[in-house]
Amino acid sequence: MGSVFGKRYDPARDAEELEELRDMVNEGFDLLSAFNWCDYLPWLNYFYDPFRIHERCLKLVPRVRKLVAGIIEDHRLNKSRRKCDSCDFVDVLLSLDGEEKLEEDDMVAVLWEMIFRGTDTTALLTEWIMAELVLHPEIQEKLQRELDGAAKDGNLTDSEVANLPYLKAVVKETLRVHPQAHSFRGPGCPRQTRRICPGKNLGLVTVTLWVAKLVHQFQWVQDLANPVDLSEVLRLSCEMKKPLQAVALQRTGVST
Ligand code: HEM
Repeated sequence: MGSVFGKRYDPARDAEELEELRDMVNEGFDLLSAFNWCDYLPWLNYFYDPFRIHERCLKLVPRVRKLVAGIIEDHRLNKSRRKCDSCDFVDVLLSLDGEEKLEEDDMVAVLWEMIFRGTDTTALLTEWIMAELVLHPEIQEKLQRELDGAAKDGNLTDSEVANLPYLKAVVKETLRVHPQAHSFRGPGCPRQTRRICPGKNLGLVTVTLWVAKLVHQFQWVQDLANPVDLSEVLRLSCEMKKPLQAVALQRTGVST
């Protein structure tokens, strides 16, 4: 949310908006992963929609438009107060001019896609990495040694973790073993079309920093009542069938 909307949500202060956002993302995932007869037989839409896909989409669209258009409007109003080095993705879209200028509806669509596609992928990759590290304590230990060497003042920043070879290898190896391919492909999307991720760099930087902070600060061990299970389930992305549960032990000598 920070890099796309330039907004950090405070669970106490922004509880209502946060809940609305979470609910909309969940509903979007449900709708995209639901089997929809009309993808194959569009004319069926008029009299057979057992999962109420059409009706639910019609309800979701104005909610998304209201929330995202409100954020765009806030950015327009605060334009003069914002410094360039705190620019976010909304500012970038608003700054487009001439032939590149976007209509508001297009901006809403682009921003929603970034939120929607950027959240589960980054969270799931982090979850897979942490699961593998719980199962491989020797790798976790080696990673901690690398992170201890890189941390200045006990804290880790983007730039400190950017070039750590072992951390990079852990992230890439997890992506190789648990690839995050999205499963949907509509009838209009030809088989040979290669889709690529425009948020790849942002996603990898985010996951790398999260993992670095989690592993530097804590030692992660099995929760014996809920052992790590690497079984997969393919929804929009490849998820853990049994969400990760693990125990975090504060590492001694690392300041909080
Ligand atoms: C490490 C995290 C991420 C992984 C593993 C990942 C993975 C992918 C993959 C495999 C695809 C293409 C496959 C498909 O949908 O058919 C994709 C598409 C996409 N991703 Fe990511 N992604 C990540 C982070 C992000 C972030 C942070 C954003 C935005 C802020 C983002 C935005 C998008 C968008 C908009 C598309 C659709 C592109 C299109 O339709 O042509 N992703 N992602």
